[in-house]
Amino acid sequence: MPVEGKSPPPARVLSGIQPTGRFHWGNYFGAIRQYIDLQPGGDADAAEAYYFIADLHALTTVREPARLRSLVRDAAIDLVSLGLDPARAVLFVQSDVPEVTELTWLLMTVAPMGLLERCHAYKDKKSRGLPADAGLFTYPVLMSADILAYDATIVPVGEDQVQHIEVCRDLAGTFNHLYGPVFTLPAPRLVAGGARVPGTDGQKMSKSYDNTLEVFDDPAAQKKKIMRITTDSRPMDEPKNPDDDHLFALYALVAAADETQRMADLYRRGGFGYGEVKKALAEAAAQFFAEARGRRAALEANPERIEAILADGARRARLKAGAVLARARAACGLDRRVTGPRP
Ligand code: ADP
Ligand code: TRP
Repeated sequence: MPVEGKSPPPARVLSGIQPTGRFHWGNYFGAIRQYIDLQPGGDADAAEAYYFIADLHALTTVREPARLRSLVRDAAIDLVSLGLDPARAVLFVQSDVPEVTELTWLLMTVAPMGLLERCHAYKDKKSRGLPADAGLFTYPVLMSADILAYDATIVPVGEDQVQHIEVCRDLAGTFNHLYGPVFTLPAPRLVAGGARVPGTDGQKMSKSYDNTLEVFDDPAAQKKKIMRITTDSRPMDEPKNPDDDHLFALYALVAAADETQRMADLYRRGGFGYGEVKKALAEAAAQFFAEARGRRAALEANPERIEAILADGARRARLKAGAVLARARAACGLDRRVTGPRP
């Protein structure tokens, strides 16, 4: 609650997204769309917004250099095509800001083993008897540095990332307690109330379940996937409840409000085939993403433009992260002046 006479500090929004595959509808409707709405000038009217492609995090799972390179590039093009505006938000690639990896070490020295052992990415892998590397184990420390390096106050994330924000607050609190007020403590913001986008089989859409609809599939390929969406075998005449049907849930994401209402009425009345709904879904989806697809084609044809956006993003991100790192180094006694030019 704002204290009288004192305005709340300006919101600085930050989030990262891993380039571990092409973006699907779950990523877009569950995360990316909210990031875009949170840009300065958008619904939440943040003072500043930082969004980055978390390639260092992806390195714990993507081990093919050429694939990582193209996933990073595609992620950048996709985000800008979907409406992330480099004039309003700082868009950059995580590994372009080496200050963050240095900050990771400082935080590592105050990170209790027990805390990291409880983090689910590592814990889940271990409980399945799989070997884990130190990169996965210390993943939440790198994520903490990502957040603290920009004095972020709001971090929009999915439910699965809330634990990591708690770790970040914990490490920042310990560091501040030891060395003085260096870091700003962030708060998580759950995106879309945790809404879950269903996949083509009705389970949560996820690349691990092979049930995704990609945002930038070409419409013909997408239609093929849509026509294969699983449905039940109830007779056409039978009225159906739209609210427990994943095909309808997908339609509602991409169709206009009046079309969605008409489709809901049709479900309740009965007397339709799922084939018709699938065709309507394919059409609505092609239309919903048409503008973004157009922007994507233009960016794809102009590779220097995306490189320039990322270079400018990295420059602005480094300015901010450099200042925070200098603060942290000085606070813990790493501020010896180097005389002469640095190599
Ligand atoms: P995947 O499950 O395909 O590996 P990620 O874990 O890379 O997806 O997802 C990145 C972000 O996208 C998540 O933090 C979450 O916010 C969002 N997201 C992914 N899938 C869904 C979904 N089916 N419904 C809602 N949000 C999703
Ligand atoms: N770990 C996040 C994910 O898998 C991505 C991420 C990395 C991130 N650093 C971050 C998200 C900092 C928010 C803030 O989705």
